[in-house]
Amino acid sequence: MPDSSTTNVPDVPAEAWSGVHRGPLRVGEWVRLTDQKGRRHNFELTAGKRFFSNKGHLEHDELIGREEGFTVTSSAGGQYLVFRPLLSEFVVSMPRGAAVVYPKDAAQIVALADIFPGARVVEAGAGSGALTCSLLRAVGPWGRLTSYELREEFAEVAKRNVDQFFNAPEGATHPAWDLRLGDLKVELPAMDGQVDRVILDMLDPWNCVDAVAEKLVPGGIVCAYVATTTQLSRVVETLRAHGGFTEPQPWESMVRDWHVEGLAVRPGHKMIGHTAFLVTARRMAPGETPPRKTRRPAPGAYGPDYTGPRPADIPPLPVEAGDGTENGTNTEG
Ligand SMILES: C[S@@+](CC[C@H](N)C(=O)[O-])C[C@H]1O[C@@H](n2cnc3c(N)ncnc32)[C@H](O)[C@@H]1O
Repeated sequence: MPDSSTTNVPDVPAEAWSGVHRGPLRVGEWVRLTDQKGRRHNFELTAGKRFFSNKGHLEHDELIGREEGFTVTSSAGGQYLVFRPLLSEFVVSMPRGAAVVYPKDAAQIVALADIFPGARVVEAGAGSGALTCSLLRAVGPWGRLTSYELREEFAEVAKRNVDQFFNAPEGATHPAWDLRLGDLKVELPAMDGQVDRVILDMLDPWNCVDAVAEKLVPGGIVCAYVATTTQLSRVVETLRAHGGFTEPQPWESMVRDWHVEGLAVRPGHKMIGHTAFLVTARRMAPGETPPRKTRRPAPGAYGPDYTGPRPADIPPLPVEAGDGTENGTNTEG
């Protein structure tokens, strides 16, 4: 039943590739229904089809033609809130191949890796395409996002998800997107031109540091997203030891919901304890190195038990104390 109060606002221009529609819900669009217990159901609107739940059913035709943001009642009396899914909702409910970057981290990446409209960005791996959607939103149709993915089956999942989110017409995809199958370490050196940002969400980002340094413009940003402290240490120390980047900035973000109801105002009981750590560093101009640190490392930080890459200004260990295999290479000379 179309609602007579529809606002007739013009739709978001298709050339913006925002993945967002305004105005009445249309056939072929995805909607998100939230029940009275907060359970969510996403489905594509199809004329003549029914949505079934433990509270009976709803006709899709009851939703088609109405402005999002309303409550419907199913045949067995269940109430459902109806909206179009937001990007942050889409990525946590879409089909997954690899684990996705959660919205709280995607927001941090877009903000702190300073992804801007028109930017030339490389990411690896594309995985399920969750971060890809945020990066494409941020670079816009005049930017360029080249996404590398090692595994064909994940690349296919990413393509389906990204095309669905951006409502890509049959046979088309977001105009800024170039999805490539391959290993970033091998493919990046052969890629044409330089880029403004490189985002690494993969197992061994430290193995890509040399290739990334070659491709980043001076002032460009590399951002790595890693799940464990051992990965964090290795990527930070490799960036430091490279010598052509500013001091790496490692951090993590924790988001805590709050319960606010009258006098009962307290933190929520549940929280996502850990997703991953983020590291950013900026590329120095060719041949330039960052200032030497005036603060000495903590005692023992690079002592005999430390076997990772060594910054150039940290003296090598005496030979008998370490095997010397990864002793401080400052490739910027
Ligand atoms: C955690 S998933 C990425 C998830 C993705 N960022 C998202 O938000 O959906 C890591 C992906 O990196 C890919 N990968 C690992 N090493 C790679 C490499 N050297 N080059 C390209 N892709 C790589 C894996 O196949 C996997 O799909």
